[in-house]
Amino acid sequence: MKPTRYSVIKNAEVGKNSRIYDQVNLYRCKIGKNTKIDSYVYIEEGVTIGDNCKIRPFVFIPTGVVIEDSVFIAPNVTFTNDKHPRAHGEWTRLQTRVKRFASIGAGSTINPGVQIGENALIGAGSVVTKDVPDNAIVVGVPARVIGTRPRPSEPDGGPVCNQRTRR
Ligand SMILES: CC(C)(COP(=O)(O)OP(=O)(O)OC[C@H]1O[C@@H](n2cnc3c(N)ncnc32)[C@H](O)[C@@H]1OP(=O)(O)O)[C@@H](O)C(=O)NCCC(=O)NCCS
Repeated sequence: MKPTRYSVIKNAEVGKNSRIYDQVNLYRCKIGKNTKIDSYVYIEEGVTIGDNCKIRPFVFIPTGVVIEDSVFIAPNVTFTNDKHPRAHGEWTRLQTRVKRFASIGAGSTINPGVQIGENALIGAGSVVTKDVPDNAIVVGVPARVIGTRPRPSEPDGGPVCNQRTRR
């Protein structure tokens, strides 16, 4: 891994051939092999990110999130982990999982505790409030299913076709 500039990286475990760009904050998280973490990405303690993922700039990933292999996360995606946040007092952390080959469109917000299915596609600007089925395309606020997309042609993250089937 090349040295990063203006970054805070504390006890992060980073797999072989992963690229971490400048101006990131990574705290006690685990990042797999051949994954790209772009600039201005903030990842909290305990987060796991798989192999062959792409995390584009300005993404926030708090504690409680697991991202499996070959996931694409577009710029300005925000994950959350507390459904009823307050500045002080008790809170409940919910667990969120993004399954392999899923793609999350730019500027989307993922509410706490949802599961995003394998190869699912979240349209740009969506707010995901419920679990997303495998292969579903969802858009909107709140995000609703508008179609499905074919499975990736190769098991290790080959090109994903964006064709959509209207429901
Ligand atoms: C959801 C998405 C995959 C749909 O693409 P598509 O299958 O080619 O569909 P179209 O662009 O033809 O749009 C179909 C309909 O959905 C609507 N739509 C498309 N994307 C939408 C979105 N993100 N949110 C809400 N509605 C959306 C369109 O307005 C259109 O509505 P209409 O049928 O009433 O005219 C795509 O628009 C999208 O958001 N992709 C993610 C882009 C992204 O963030 N890329 C990151 C790389 S930088």
